[in-house]
Amino acid sequence: TLSAKDKNIVKDFWAKVAGREEQIGCDALSRMLTVYPQTKTYFSHWKDLSPGSDPVRKHGATIIAAVADAVSKMDDLTGGLLSLSELHAFTLRVDPANFKVLSHNVLVVLSTMFPDDFSPEVHVAMDKFLAAVALALSEKYR
Ligand code: HEM
Repeated sequence: TLSAKDKNIVKDFWAKVAGREEQIGCDALSRMLTVYPQTKTYFSHWKDLSPGSDPVRKHGATIIAAVADAVSKMDDLTGGLLSLSELHAFTLRVDPANFKVLSHNVLVVLSTMFPDDFSPEVHVAMDKFLAAVALALSEKYR
């Protein structure tokens, strides 16, 4: 679980990346669809799934906006992400194993976009935070 220190590290780091949400999301989603092509099945209704395409850019921004929202709801992720969990579980039927896959790709992108700020300390706090987001999103699966 996230300690008070982890929470502060996540908040401080997130304040630095603010404004770059679309690029982070576009790069992370592009990377996920390329490196883990099995994830493409969920987005097969899009016209263009290639890296940096319009739908990938748009949805990348949506995902990272939701992560930003989760930063502000860090003390109650389960409650804060309940409707998003319902959407992914019942409507989209996303295998929750994929939450880990996306989290990994977000971390890779953050490390390459923000090499000076992405210290091991930030890395571990962000890894824990994204795992907590994934857990909250998995809430409605059982
Ligand atoms: C839609 C967030 C992980 C598949 C969405 C939406 C948000 C979101 C905010 C839009 C909801 C709406 O329209 O009301 C997140 C977050 C994730 C995550 C924060 C994890 C950190 C995933 C993963 C997959 C996935 C791992 C599949 C590999 C989808 C699909 C849609 C969607 C297929 C609908 C896209 C469309 O057709 O426009 N997600 N998501 N999500 N998500 Fe996720």
